[in-house]
Amino acid sequence: GETFLVTAGPTREPFDPVRFITNHSSGKMGYAVAIMARRRGARVILISGPSSLPPPMDVQLVAVSSAREMRDAVMRHLDAATVVVKAAAVADYRPAVQARQKLKKKPGPMAIELERNPDIIAEIGANKNGRIIVGFAMETEDLLENARAKLETKNMDLIVANDLQEAGAGFQNETNVIRIIDREGSIESLPLMSKMEAANRILDRIKCLLMAKT
Ligand code: PMT
Repeated sequence: GETFLVTAGPTREPFDPVRFITNHSSGKMGYAVAIMARRRGARVILISGPSSLPPPMDVQLVAVSSAREMRDAVMRHLDAATVVVKAAAVADYRPAVQARQKLKKKPGPMAIELERNPDIIAEIGANKNGRIIVGFAMETEDLLENARAKLETKNMDLIVANDLQEAGAGFQNETNVIRIIDREGSIESLPLMSKMEAANRILDRIKCLLMAKT
């Protein structure tokens, strides 16, 4: 009876018709959550940035490119969602100007001015309406401290922290090393495992939260 809204993959922030700013997210972690939630019987809407992964069976896939497109797609589908899992690596900034023609090389350095993108999960967190909200934190230092701060400020129920410095964790790999932090501050530290298995462990925790609500 639950409807999951899952985001996955990177966003692309163009500054001319041929170039963009992005990151290394493959979509694997978010797709794993979508696949496993569907296998457990949920209806799943997967909002994905550009990814080469095949569309999961029986999942409603919404393809987007930029952070602003992802935000609009999330807001369009939010009313249907009882659980939101935000595994996407959303660009915090975008180029302030998007040139209509390909930028030409000139002598000397070049600067690109950036402006803030909307913080999608913070917007959802400010208007939860009884939804369970699970975010991710990708860090390269002070993993737990930074993740806890995000959980608090963005009003999440759980945050899944992964550290780029840890072998087998983070972007691109088939595996991840995750820590699941809840609002009471308790930390569940999990060993290296496949992203599918990690998704299941996250879903176990979401199930507990859903059961506690009824
Ligand atoms: O896709 P893979 O290759 O499998 O890699 C998986 C992953 C490393 C991308 C994933 O496990 C992960 O950590 N995703 C979140 C990465 C990230 O952007 O973290 P963050 O600390 O910048 O953002 C915190 C949370 O806010 C995230 O849930 C993010 O989706 C959300 N956010 C961030 C910025 C923004 N403008 N809007 C958001 O909603």
